[in-house]
Amino acid sequence: MEIISTIADLRARLAHEPEVAFVPTMGNLHEGHIALVELAKQHAALVVVSIFVNPLQFGPHEDFANYPRTFDADCAKLQEAGAQIVFAPTHEDLYPVPQQVTVEPPPIANELCGAHRPGHFCGVATVVLKLFNIVQPKVAVFGQKDYQQLHVIRQMVQQLNVPVQIVAGETVRAADGLALSSRNGYLTPEQRAEAPRLYRTLQQIAQAIHSGANDFPALEAEAAADLLAHGWGVDYVSVRGQDTLAPVVPENGPWVVMAAAHLGNTRLIDNIEILLSK
Ligand code: PAJ
Repeated sequence: MEIISTIADLRARLAHEPEVAFVPTMGNLHEGHIALVELAKQHAALVVVSIFVNPLQFGPHEDFANYPRTFDADCAKLQEAGAQIVFAPTHEDLYPVPQQVTVEPPPIANELCGAHRPGHFCGVATVVLKLFNIVQPKVAVFGQKDYQQLHVIRQMVQQLNVPVQIVAGETVRAADGLALSSRNGYLTPEQRAEAPRLYRTLQQIAQAIHSGANDFPALEAEAAADLLAHGWGVDYVSVRGQDTLAPVVPENGPWVVMAAAHLGNTRLIDNIEILLSK
């Protein structure tokens, strides 16, 4: 496996590669990331994984400084998974001048997670477009765990005519249901034991909808109250239409139940697609 740390070296290395499948990450890799690498391998012979903790997508009071950086362990996992190239640019290489040209994401990026993390999706879309322009992949793989991020990237690619095919990987979970996340490492043992409630709560809503419940605001409020009662801070629990994520949900689905909530200072997100329509 090759580790490449400058844009110039990566461009030179990829100049004559016909097809690349690309997995952008911020490192601290877990089985969820590795599943995306496995998926990428199905789409092109050459898999490039980027590791870059992107300051542009962190708010001033968020965890950029503390975000876990585990480069050597990440490389070992990627080597084992069969990725051929790790691209780990420096901040100076990716942002040599202040990034004044940015991607303005669609208005939905100001709702849900965007309402609680102003500028977050602009930072994500901007770095992803930069990485796409550097790597020029045929396919790029993103996890459904970050459902709104996947939506924003799909919209960017479609509306800006970016010639990259976006492929989605399913959420990989721990045995107790908790979606794997680099931020799970922040949880105390007590919080880790409590954390699977988020997924259970989403499952309960999904089950209720499958059984015919259709008062979505009531389901959302009940779920939020239950999380609050168990010590969570709740950013949102929301049933949305899968295609637009707009607050006015389609009457017959398909829907997605999305949630973001905190245990202490640790913010967790999760979602479940509801595939059956009423
Ligand atoms: P990061 O949080 O490292 O995630 C990298 C990719 O892994 C994303 O596509 C994310 O959705 C996916 N992922 C995370 N947890 C997962 C899980 N449990 N199951 C499946 N996939 C999972 O998302 C980012 O980095 C950044 O915003 C990035 C796109 C790299 C831009 O900086």
